[in-house]
Amino acid sequence: MDLIIGRSQPIQRLKNLIKQVADTGLNVLVCGESGVGKELVARSLHGQSNRSTKPFVKVNCAALPGELLESELFGYEKGAFTGASEAKPGKFEIADKGAIFLDEIGDMSLSLQAKLLQVLQDSEFCRVGGIRDVKVDVWVICATHHDLEVDIQKGHFREDLFYRINIIKIKVPPLRERKEDIPLLVNHFLEKYMTSLNRNPADLRLSQELFDCFSKYHWPGNVRELENYIQKLMVLGDEQPVIEELESKNLRGVDAVAPDKDWDHEEYLLDSIISDVTKGLSDNFPSLKDIKKKAQARAEKVVIEEALRRTAGNKRDAAKLLQISYKAILYKIRDYGINVEPGEFLTNSIQVTIPRS
Ligand SMILES: Nc1ncnc2c1ncn2[C@@H]1O[C@H](COP(=O)(O)OP(=O)(O)OP(=O)(O)O)[C@@H](O)[C@H]1O
Ligand SMILES: [Mg+2]
Repeated sequence: MDLIIGRSQPIQRLKNLIKQVADTGLNVLVCGESGVGKELVARSLHGQSNRSTKPFVKVNCAALPGELLESELFGYEKGAFTGASEAKPGKFEIADKGAIFLDEIGDMSLSLQAKLLQVLQDSEFCRVGGIRDVKVDVWVICATHHDLEVDIQKGHFREDLFYRINIIKIKVPPLRERKEDIPLLVNHFLEKYMTSLNRNPADLRLSQELFDCFSKYHWPGNVRELENYIQKLMVLGDEQPVIEELESKNLRGVDAVAPDKDWDHEEYLLDSIISDVTKGLSDNFPSLKDIKKKAQARAEKVVIEEALRRTAGNKRDAAKLLQISYKAILYKIRDYGINVEPGEFLTNSIQVTIPRS
């Protein structure tokens, strides 16, 4: 069964890459923002490989402090430390002939990184407190949301280990770059939770308005965030609270602080306008002139509304903020059909005081 849902180009490329890599046994580094599906990619790699009938063992390197993580990975001998009343094999031994998934590898301590490097070089290691070498045949798949090259610069990650684990790098694209997959993912999550939440997806009529909100949103928490919204919708049985929440996030650009550092509200606004005006391009191809006109009108409307919101509906102040004349804003408000009823722009307003000239 295909674990990875999606038909967008970035997902098709991802699936092809997984297919090409799965049987090679080369170490893979899966990277990407939080919630994009890194673990799913790791499981998919294992599932499509010739090791699929052997174990897939996951270890979260961020969850345990250094020494505990060492004994978790490599096991220990009886009496290795206080409390070690019995010998215990580590995850590397359990994963023999299969794959080990080292999640959040960027959080591993430098001393453990050195030990891991040795294991990758020699395919053997010693249990904690042991003297005997244990030989294993394990496929190593790592994941991180860190930029390991930056961590190397800062001295937090070993460069030699980086080259060992990063033979094949798979970058999982953020959801905002493959929004056309949203409807498929929504169906998938509706089916996934119908039994555990005891809900019939047919009772939940999801509107175009909701999908429009989904397609405008920046998705800083990626697929996991979408999954959470679907669970919320199923439990509430009402999409209005979700629409309101997303609309307010879309307008304010809040919670849109994505883990990638170069996220910028203005760029996001432009991106969502572009995706809006280019929707359905394949069915009905417009002239470049028409597209330009449509994009300009759409962008101006959004920005004027935001300026009015910030000035609590004061048209003169909004015109100053936008550096256009009072007359020009009045024309645009009329042409774009912007509602300027009193009180319309008082909610959610972050007021800006415009100096009087
Ligand atoms: N393409 C997809 N198809 C179906 N489910 C997906 C997809 N991508 C992610 N998911 C689901 O979204 C959730 C988050 O995915 P996953 O745990 O793999 O992300 P992650 O990148 O490892 O996140 P984190 O960085 O927080 O560890 C999971 O429930 C996963 O099943
Ligand atoms: Mg994960």
